Amino acid sequence: MQIVRQLDPLRDALAEFRKAGSRIGLVPTMGALHAGHMRLVEVAMEQCDAVVASIFVNPTQFGEGEDLDAYPRQEAADAALLEAAGVELLWAPTADQMYPAGYATNVSVGGISDGLCGAARPGHFDGVATVVAKLFNQVRPDAAFFGEKDYQQLAVIRRMARDLDFTHDIVGVQTVRDPDGLALSSRNAYLTKEQRTNAVALPDEMRDAAGAIAAGGNVATILEEARSRLLASGFHKIDYLELRDANTLAVLDDFTQPARLFAAAHIGRTRLIDNIPVS
Ligand code: PAF
Repeated sequence: MQIVRQLDPLRDALAEFRKAGSRIGLVPTMGALHAGHMRLVEVAMEQCDAVVASIFVNPTQFGEGEDLDAYPRQEAADAALLEAAGVELLWAPTADQMYPAGYATNVSVGGISDGLCGAARPGHFDGVATVVAKLFNQVRPDAAFFGEKDYQQLAVIRRMARDLDFTHDIVGVQTVRDPDGLALSSRNAYLTKEQRTNAVALPDEMRDAAGAIAAGGNVATILEEARSRLLASGFHKIDYLELRDANTLAVLDDFTQPARLFAAAHIGRTRLIDNIPVS
């Protein structure tokens, strides 16, 4: 596997893949890879001839006081995993390749970026849309792969791609979970043993609430009770626990299809997010 940090050698390597007629898959990541990322790679390998993974801890998607400095960085271990999985090229740009001196452009996706994580993390989705647009232009993939765990991010990227005329496929891949149901996340590494035990309340409460909503219960009451139980289970702050339209992400006060339940909650110093379909 080639590890490339500068744009010129990236373009040269990609030109070789294209000359060979390869369908190029892109798996963008911020590293600290876990089985969820490796599932993206697996799906990309199934659908493409040459898979490019990127690792870039993107400063513009972190707000003030967030975990940019503490974000886990383990490039050597990540590279070994990607190589073993058959990735052809790791694009690990330096910060100045991504944001050279004088960089002044921002991609902002209106509407779908508001609410949920957009409300809790102002500017976050501008940072995501900007770096993903740059990655799409740098790699010009035939398909790009993103996890459904960051469902709003996936929706923002789909809208951005449509609005800015990126024509390649955007593939959403189902969330990978630990056996007890907790969604895999690089931030799970921050959890203490006790917090990890308690964190399972999030998928448990979401699953129960989704079942009760699908069975015709009152949405507001079900979500209020689930919030109270989460706060009694070790979570100290809930950013949101909401029922939303799975396509538009509009808030649903009553259950209509297609619906999805979205949650973000804090346990210790860790903010966990999750989402599941309600059907
Ligand atoms: O999901 C992530 O890891 C990041 O938000 C992404 C898409 C790689 C952009 O930095």
